Amino acid sequence: MREMLRLLQDGRFHSGEELAAALGLSRAAIWKRLTILERDYQLPLQRVRGRGYALSAPLHLLDGEAIERSLSGFDWGVVCLDSVDSTNAEVFRRFASGIGRACLVLSEHQTAGRGRRGRVWQSPLGENLYCSLGLRLDGAAFPLEGLSLTVGLAVLEALRAFGCMGVGLKWPNDVLVGARKIAGILLELSGDPAGDCSVVIGIGVNLNMRHEREAIDQSWTSVSRELGGSIDRSAFAISLCEHLHHYLGLHREGGFASLQSEWESAHLWHGKAVRLGGVDGIVAGVDSSGALRLLVDGVLRSYSGGELSLRLRDDS
Ligand code: BTN
Repeated sequence: MREMLRLLQDGRFHSGEELAAALGLSRAAIWKRLTILERDYQLPLQRVRGRGYALSAPLHLLDGEAIERSLSGFDWGVVCLDSVDSTNAEVFRRFASGIGRACLVLSEHQTAGRGRRGRVWQSPLGENLYCSLGLRLDGAAFPLEGLSLTVGLAVLEALRAFGCMGVGLKWPNDVLVGARKIAGILLELSGDPAGDCSVVIGIGVNLNMRHEREAIDQSWTSVSRELGGSIDRSAFAISLCEHLHHYLGLHREGGFASLQSEWESAHLWHGKAVRLGGVDGIVAGVDSSGALRLLVDGVLRSYSGGELSLRLRDDS
């Protein structure tokens, strides 16, 4: 399928004969693949008699080799897939099959992208970035506390490096432009957090998401919407991984405590009146473990656990 996508990614018309010859397939096999692109990958196709087939808009596919080359110094296994249920799930499968080293999985498309609190993460083919970095850790030696907030800083800095200056963070790890979500982070852990464990850092960044994506149940934006033009997804993936590598190093050395004030200065809701679960308070920062500090009835309290939903109060 990847070769077929590579031929079609320019958004121009390609005849059935041309595609069949280029891929060494029969016309019937080409037709079948085109149907899969439309039905399973939800890729809008134009079919015009006498001209052939064209994507409704050009695609910018990931350049797996360039990504692997650029990250070769990190000792991460890099895998670039066409489609997968969830890159997080794929990393766990690879760990279960015995892979021992850090593993980065990127995919053009996810059929069951996972968001926080059981939500679905919409993952249309070739539009955004969907990637997961799996790490095998000794939880006794690597500070896991606040890790998801540290990842937020890495995503934030990658976006800023691309010129997206209006971005900020919302506790625990949403990346927003104003009130619109531009990226999401889902950390999943298996094993013993105080001993041998696997952590999968899943990151979804809206890069070139088309505006008509209506299935998304929260207010969103994308890098292309913020900056205009379309974003080179491979270049962004490389930059994101470099920032992630850098921030994971800082976190390993000094824990989240060493990044606490940097995180606080990027928090868009600092000083805002909020509701967390059933509690009303004023955001007063985060503590050295990444827990949210709220001023509740004049008393400072800390709240951990990103499964609670933080909302702005109407009067804020
Ligand atoms: C959120 O709800 O804010 C978290 C979204 C995380 C989405 C990413 S996309 C890559 C990785 N694979 C998944 O299934 N989810 C994460």
